[in-house]
Amino acid sequence: MNVILLGPPGAGKGTQAERIVKGYGLIHISTGDMLRAAVKNGTEMGLKAQEYMTAGALVPDEVVIGIVRDRIAEKDVEEKGFLLDGFPRTVGQADALDKVLSSLGKNLDAVVNIIVPDEELLDRLTGRRICKSCQKPYHMVFSPPQKEGVCDTCGGELYQRADDTIETVKNRLDVYHSQTSPLIEYYTKKGVLFDIDGTKGMEDVFGDISNALKAKV
Ligand code: AP5
Ligand code: MG
Repeated sequence: MNVILLGPPGAGKGTQAERIVKGYGLIHISTGDMLRAAVKNGTEMGLKAQEYMTAGALVPDEVVIGIVRDRIAEKDVEEKGFLLDGFPRTVGQADALDKVLSSLGKNLDAVVNIIVPDEELLDRLTGRRICKSCQKPYHMVFSPPQKEGVCDTCGGELYQRADDTIETVKNRLDVYHSQTSPLIEYYTKKGVLFDIDGTKGMEDVFGDISNALKAKV
């Protein structure tokens, strides 16, 4: 099964990806995680991406399309299927993904569109903490770790993302509405989009996603 997780910053894509990957054995491909790793390692791509990410803007299509194209062609994805998180984010990226999938003889089974209003997204992102080692997201109020500053799952150190400040979050939301939300219509037309109410509790959201995916397994 090949699935896309669509939704604004803070909708819970990473939170639900962890559960979906456990439940369905898909390979999680997060362009945000890959770009942050490249920034941390100081690679050429990381150096290109950093200024866009810090400003809450999108990294140019050709950079992200290249990394997704390479990753999707790998053997583990071939065997298990993918869960794309944070890609595509523009119509240009979606068109490129269509071409990559057809060249590899793959289908897209579902696009899970997680819906949350902007006011709640701002609270979620400014209170978020993330594990440096396994990238698991926490929230200081909604899902705190058992021990402050430490990941429950792997014991890694928690940190706040550089783009989770109020100003940058506002930019990211604007970018989502202008450049990414047109994908809702794009995938509705293809008949693969499922709307999910992302304001429910994390486990209820996962239950609704599972019901939507059941028809596809
Ligand atoms: P990326 O890393 O993809 O970030 P994003 O899309 O902005 O989304 P987030 O990771 O912030 O949110 P999420 O939906 O994963 O929410 P989470 O589960 O953590 O991209 C970052 C940057 O990289 C971009 O701005 C861009 O510069 C660049 N980039 C990446 N991909 C790109 C692409 N394809 N093209 C161009 N540029 C690209 O949850 C958020 C918080 O809410 C957490 O604290 C969590 O605990 C809490 N929470 C989750 N669910 C619930 C719930 N149901 N109830 C209460 N709290 C909840
Ligand atoms: Mg995320």
